[in-house]
Amino acid sequence: MTRRGLTPDELSALQSIVGRTHVATSVDDVTPYAKDWTRDLVHAPAAVAKPGSTGEVSRLLAFCDERRIPVTPQGGRTGMSGGALAVRGGVALSLERMNAIREIDTANLVAVAEAGVVTQTLQEAAEEKGLFYPPDPSSRGSCLIGGNVAENAGGPHAAKYGVTGKWVLGLEAVFADGQVTVTGGKTRKDVAGYDLTSLLVGSEGTLAVVTAAWLRLIAKPAAWATVLAPFGSLEEAARGVVEIHRSGLVPSACEVIDRPSVEVSSRKKGVGVPFPGAEARILLDFDGGSEGEVERDVTRAGEILLDSGALDVALATEEAKRRTLWEVRRGIAEAIHDLGVSVELDVAVPRSELVALVEGVRGIAAAAGLNPFCYGHAADGNLHVRLLRERGAADTAVFDEAVNAIYAEAVRLGGTITAEHGVGVILKELLPLRRDAAFLSAMRAVKRALDPHGILNPGKVFPETSG
Ligand code: MLT
Ligand code: ZN
Repeated sequence: MTRRGLTPDELSALQSIVGRTHVATSVDDVTPYAKDWTRDLVHAPAAVAKPGSTGEVSRLLAFCDERRIPVTPQGGRTGMSGGALAVRGGVALSLERMNAIREIDTANLVAVAEAGVVTQTLQEAAEEKGLFYPPDPSSRGSCLIGGNVAENAGGPHAAKYGVTGKWVLGLEAVFADGQVTVTGGKTRKDVAGYDLTSLLVGSEGTLAVVTAAWLRLIAKPAAWATVLAPFGSLEEAARGVVEIHRSGLVPSACEVIDRPSVEVSSRKKGVGVPFPGAEARILLDFDGGSEGEVERDVTRAGEILLDSGALDVALATEEAKRRTLWEVRRGIAEAIHDLGVSVELDVAVPRSELVALVEGVRGIAAAAGLNPFCYGHAADGNLHVRLLRERGAADTAVFDEAVNAIYAEAVRLGGTITAEHGVGVILKELLPLRRDAAFLSAMRAVKRALDPHGILNPGKVFPETSG
């Protein structure tokens, strides 16, 4: 695979666009931009450019397009599919300096945030005004709004509120040739032309560079509670999730977590959790307009969980307790990452097939002699399966077969190969498992139209050896 370097002239052109101090080329400065949270992938760009304005992004793209220099947009580099890695070299375009919250409009309930705003920072700014921005990827303390939009990020509270794209009213974005567009704004309805907002959301930086977003806000819920229920097995917990939703209850989050995942995260955080020995658990959040409303939901959820085989039910209404439970949940990915190289699958199935998926995953892993970590956003039928590559190279084929068998099982059950982490570099050859030939050719046509020279995030999403 060819990796594009930069000539001295090209480098000085980049420096004149974004400022000398905002272009990094030394090994020390570039190394952090060569990695994200995907396994052990490392891809160093020739340079990292950190523009401070949309105008600079535009000039930079126009220059790179003319010179055919690959440009890989980067947010917080917390992605788990390698989407932000400069696999073809060239320029990594970090949006980190564009971190202004331009406006929180309390009359229209809209925030206008630049791509480099940390998701949690936006949430806290909204909360100060009594408002709520629900999308909450587990990395919300370090991921950026631009990355969330590019990946259409999910998270636990997508259970009730949906993924990032549901909250995007419009985008400011720069096309490969440097043209700037604004695809929407503060209006709730706008059918003037194609829905380019939706096209760019989730396009993984391959169609345009998002520089700012108009995001919907809602009133902050008045009350919250968290329910924890231990189960004897992950399959039983999955059944519990289906029953909760069958009852008509709408938890704002509904996660299943197996014992190994809880153990590794609570050990890293140094905090204990209730029911430490339980093979699996469901972690549920409810929110609402009043304490009474939440209390009603929580009581009913407790009854349903016990009827569906929960060994116990615990309630946490105090903020500190809730925070600990969620910190342990949100810390799982990082804690497993510390254990060594692992492959993470981000599969999803229709919720009714969740039990079959869990059974399938555990059967496939057991046959390959692997001990998976399983956890995820069960309300959305989304299971994260983490397999440690802890064995010798001789077992690589068995390992890879198990991974592929799990993807195939998810698709067989009517599901998908990635629910929220994106295709990036790690899943591109598997895309034909989920998308048919007509779909892929429409994607290629859109890509050709918007980025004819293929400079935007090359080496991602599109299969190269299949489909
Ligand atoms: C999560 O749910 O914690 C994130 O998607 C990261 C992960 O897959 O572990
Ligand atoms: Zn997740």
